[in-house]
Amino acid sequence: MTRIAIIGGGNIGEALLSGLVADETGAASDITAKDVVVVDPSSERLNVLRERYGITTTEDPEEAAAEADYVVLSVKPHIIPVVLEQIADTVDANDTETVVVSVAAGVGLNTLEGALAAGVPVVRVMPNTPMLVGKGTSAVAGGRFAGEGQVEAVRALMESVGTAIVVAEKDMDAVTAVSGSGPAYIFLVAEAMTDAGVQLGLTRATAEKLAIGTIEGAATMLAAGENSPSELRANVTSPGGTTAAALRSLEENGLRKAFFRGLEACADRSKELGRPAGKDD
Ligand SMILES: NC(=O)c1ccc[n+]([C@@H]2O[C@H](COP(=O)([O-])OP(=O)(O)OC[C@H]3O[C@@H](n4cnc5c(N)ncnc54)[C@H](OP(=O)(O)O)[C@@H]3O)[C@@H](O)[C@H]2O)c1
Repeated sequence: MTRIAIIGGGNIGEALLSGLVADETGAASDITAKDVVVVDPSSERLNVLRERYGITTTEDPEEAAAEADYVVLSVKPHIIPVVLEQIADTVDANDTETVVVSVAAGVGLNTLEGALAAGVPVVRVMPNTPMLVGKGTSAVAGGRFAGEGQVEAVRALMESVGTAIVVAEKDMDAVTAVSGSGPAYIFLVAEAMTDAGVQLGLTRATAEKLAIGTIEGAATMLAAGENSPSELRANVTSPGGTTAAALRSLEENGLRKAFFRGLEACADRSKELGRPAGKDD
């Protein structure tokens, strides 16, 4: 039996909880509601989560960490040090080799490990917002005391809410630029396509429906994995046709350059926030 303590029952905590409890086919399938305990300062919130998922709850992080195989920290980054101080002794002294997992943006493995006893395995995860609908993309990086099996186990847990890959921590700023902040770029594309449709005479409702449906359909084709993005684009670009005209104009107006610069700016900002006195995303 794998026991999981989720500390912080907010958006991300609940998204993970729902995936873990609902997952019937994936690698995390041996986890049932009775194996999960959630910690949150709000008793009202805990009542909601208990009724919704049938899990155990407590307001005491030490109690939750005492028997947990994995303690997932899903509190805001500035609360992470508070929680680590609360659980450090318990995680060090309990009878289990508890793996501490953090999903907090910008909090590095060094900071996490520094607040725990030497030897405690720590794994850092960078999820993204589609996790809230079971379609997250997460990158997982293990600290110096985390074994390969433990990192892989955390990756498998994250797969209950989407896809997850293992990366080196040095790549986390780039991961933040591609997938962490990525959904916002696609939301912006949806907005821009809608505005352009309105400019061409469509009603806003019609343009928005067409833009969203198109993004969903294109994403489904990409996710099928049968063709690369370039192949899919070439397949819908007839020589001298309408799509070719649009793509040429987008390229001439610097779309690709805008993405290069935008992702660079994101990675730089992520690095800056990740310094010791870093702030929230
Ligand atoms: N949202 C995203 O898309 C996203 C994406 C990537 C990473 N993340 C990371 O995920 C983490 C959680 O984000 P979120 O959006 O889920 O935040 P959230 O909705 O505010 O959830 C945090 C929860 O933790 C509770 N909490 C506060 N202090 C606590 C303590 N000492 N012990 C236990 N629980 C405590 C909060 O309760 P109160 O509200 O009562 O204070 C709240 O219910 C953040 O570190 C963020 O960087 C989020």
